[in-house]
Order: sequence, then C-alpha cells, then structure tokens
Amino acid sequence: MTTATQSSLITPPERSPSAIPPMEWALLTPLIEEIRDLKEKRNAIVLGHNYMTPDIFYGVSDLTGDSLQLARQAAETDAEVIVLAGVHFMAETAKIANPNKIVLIPDLDAGCSLAESITAEDVRRLKRAHPGVPVVTYVNTSSAVKAESDICCTSSNALQVVNSLNTDRVIFIPDKYLADWVASQTDVEVITWEGACMVHERFTGEQMRGWRKRFSASGSGNGGRSGNGNGTGISIVAHPECPPDVLAEADFVGSTSGMIAWVDENRPQRVALITECSMSDNVAIEFPEVEFVRPCNLCPHMKKITLEKIRRSLAEMKHEVVVEAAVAAGARRAVERMLAVGATASS
Ligand code: 13P
Ligand code: SF4
Repeated sequence: MTTATQSSLITPPERSPSAIPPMEWALLTPLIEEIRDLKEKRNAIVLGHNYMTPDIFYGVSDLTGDSLQLARQAAETDAEVIVLAGVHFMAETAKIANPNKIVLIPDLDAGCSLAESITAEDVRRLKRAHPGVPVVTYVNTSSAVKAESDICCTSSNALQVVNSLNTDRVIFIPDKYLADWVASQTDVEVITWEGACMVHERFTGEQMRGWRKRFSASGSGNGGRSGNGNGTGISIVAHPECPPDVLAEADFVGSTSGMIAWVDENRPQRVALITECSMSDNVAIEFPEVEFVRPCNLCPHMKKITLEKIRRSLAEMKHEVVVEAAVAAGARRAVERMLAVGATASS
C-alpha cells in the first residue's frame, strides 16, 4: 500500500472487503463484472483515489494512490482510456500528463473547494504584486490556474518542490494550511492564499487532544501516544490540509499514500487517520490488526463517484475531459516540472 498498487478484480469470497457486508458485495458483483468487461472492451483503466469507497477502491480500480501517484500512472499508462475515479482536477491533471489518451470523469460535478478558491486572474494579480517570485501551485486547482504557475506540487512533494527552486520566496497557492505546513519545514518565505479544504478544515486540535486523553485513560502513561503495537494510546496521522493546531498534535503528517505507508511501517495498535473518511475503510481492510478510530468527514465531491456512474462512464464514454490547447500547454509545463522533481529525488 505504500505505492500505487496494481489490483486485480477482487471477487468474493476470497477478499470480500470486511467493510462491505457479504450480501451487499454479492449484489455488487454483477455491476463490478460489467465494469470489468467494459474496461476490456474500451482498453481502459480505472485510476482510483485513496478516498474512493471500498467497492470502487477494491472492486474496479486498476491502480490506486494519492494525487501524485495517479498523475504518474496517468502519464505512463498504455491504456487508451483513463477513467478517473476521483475529482475533476485529478482528471484534468491526467489529461495534461497524457494528452493523447481519452480521460473520462464519471461525474462532472466532482469538484474541490480548493480548486474553487482561486482563479487564473487571481494568480495574475498575485504575480503583479510579487514580481519575479515563483508560483508553486497545489494540483488541487484548475488547468487555467496551473497554466499561470511555475510549478505544481501535491501534498507528498510540496516541501521538496519548494526547496528545489533555490529561491528565498515563493507564492504558494491555494491551500493556506498546506502552505503554513511547508513554511514550518523550510527557510523559504512562503506567501499564502486563503484557500482551504472543506473536509480537512473541520478537524480541530481539541478533537485530537480529546482522543489522546480518552485513550491515555486506558493506561498508556505516555500522554496518549500509541507505541508500536503496545496496546495503549493512539497514533494521530494527519493530512497537511488540516489546520496547524491539528498538525501540531500529529505523530506523522503526509499525503494520503504517505499516511498509509506510515501505518504499514509502524503498525500502531490504534490510529486515527485525520483525513477523508473512506480512506480508513480501505486501509482497515489491509491492516485488520490495527484499530482505526474513525472521525467521519466525507468529501461530498469524492462521494459523487459511484460504481453505477463508472459503469455509465465506460458504456457511454462520458464525460470526456477536454483542456483547451493554449491552457494545456502552460499547465503541462508546470505539471511536468513537478514530475521531474519527483523523478530526481524520492517523494
Ligand atoms: P493526496 O494527494 O494526499 O491524495 O490528497 C488529495 C486530496 O484531495 C486531499 O484532500
Ligand atoms: Fe478537495 Fe478537500 Fe475533497 Fe480533497 S477532500 S477533493 S481537497 S474538497
């Protein structure tokens, strides 16, 4: 689970996900098999983000991962059609990374509060206000915003990208919390924007401290922190889109796949993944010995993607993602520059 995984169709009863009752899984099987046949017919792959529900994540995704892994897989695939089981900016990034492929998104309304927080005109204004300062843009943005940027980044390589620029100042857009987190790890001055993720901004430091207290009461004597398999306390693993008081309480901060890798490496007895709720369902299946404390913040955009919409997407070849040529050229420069940073150092 530490890198994008190639998953074959999982059929019950061998690996029927425990998060899905067997009866429900049995009901889903015909739909899953129809999607598998359509994938073969269309020479298509489904790229599934870590936030997909287990039926999509385990049932029909050929490759799974965080934003960076999905962008890399999209750039490298030989399939003719890519169905992006994620949100619109991910589908656009896939199209930008591999323009000769047909990229489909099962629901055009699967957006992102971060992508909605900034426009290309906002970026032009920022550049005028800070002439010569490079613009680092989180991939959770539109192609038009990417096209105005020097380089893109994801949550897994943001720090690496900022440090790669050999500059003393950057404009980092649009997530203020990710920007603050990067600023806390580098000497580079970071100019921020007021964007936030509607899912992660709802977590609070108080919630984290509440869990620490609750589980330290069960006898850890270490301030509520969970050791590796010692049966007490809780490990808190957070996404950098969370507010600073949440990140201050975390044992680890990283991208969605970084968080999964941390669980894999540390095998805590009890953990809370401070991110979108479906990820815990998926990871809990891989690590049955770990207890997952689940705060349930759902992303309404990610949850627009369903098995039935994936089936329709492949059957009707809808909705094709198109990025206007002039915008695509600028956005591709920023995305490829990011992919090159990851290729020269580990992310
Ligand atoms: P990752 O790149 O860490 O998967 O994050 C994507 C995202 O949208 C988080 O909310
Ligand atoms: Fe956007 Fe937040 Fe949903 Fe990720 S979880 S897609 S950042 S709204």
